[in-house]
Amino acid sequence: MRHIVILTGAGISAESGIATFRGPGGLWEGHRVEDVCTPAALARDPALVHRFYDLRRAALAAVAPNAAHNALARLDRAWRGELLIVTQNVDDLHERAGARRLLHMHGELRSALCASCGAQQAWSEALPPGSVCADCHAPELRPDIVFFGEMPYQMERIDDALSQADLFVSIGTSGAVYPAAGFVRLARQHGAATLELNLERSEGSAWFDETRLGPAGTLVPAWVDEILETA
Ligand code: OAD
Repeated sequence: MRHIVILTGAGISAESGIATFRGPGGLWEGHRVEDVCTPAALARDPALVHRFYDLRRAALAAVAPNAAHNALARLDRAWRGELLIVTQNVDDLHERAGARRLLHMHGELRSALCASCGAQQAWSEALPPGSVCADCHAPELRPDIVFFGEMPYQMERIDDALSQADLFVSIGTSGAVYPAAGFVRLARQHGAATLELNLERSEGSAWFDETRLGPAGTLVPAWVDEILETA
């Protein structure tokens, strides 16, 4: 077994103190998704949408990677075969733990996207509507978040990795949002073994060869030990 693709979701950052999206106390609480995470919301009330993501960007300063992020970074360093960590998360905890073979399919809080020219730039402060793009100087910087109805980033690279995967592992995601929720089926079609690590059964559990239930901070380090021992 050489080629591993790992999909992560909000559950992997829960033990770092970042709320997941769905369920009681979730990030959407107090907001309807349509009010903060769609192109129509951004057009209608840019101040609300920018502020929602400003607060989440500012909150990154108070959190740190947990044992699950650290374990995946350890796997990234040690694994000699192909590896791709695809995260749906817009926090930066995987890279702060040291993961390198990583892509953010739903964007990043610490990035701004120019709605005019498409340039992306690192951004760590508040991002008021009307902020000016360093490349084209249009006052059109927005949070670099893939909104509902927009195409996630790097789908070609992800499809390619899934088509070659020997093992697909899903960690801390509810399986409610496509296309990520469909990755397990794509990987299976191409012959990959499939493993889910999640606190509870998810909408996608039936598609996995094996589901292990528990907190990511416990399950992920144990699985990484296991895979590095048997490789
Ligand atoms: P969800 O909030 O939908 O699901 C989080 C999953 O993690 C649930 O199945 C929880 O049971 C599980 N979970 C919670 N705590 C856990 C822990 N300590 N260890 C392991 N699992 C735990 O989050 P996502 O599936 O990531 O998109 O949501 C997908 C997308 O929906 C997000 O990327 C976001 C949202 O719309 C955008 O913002 C573009």
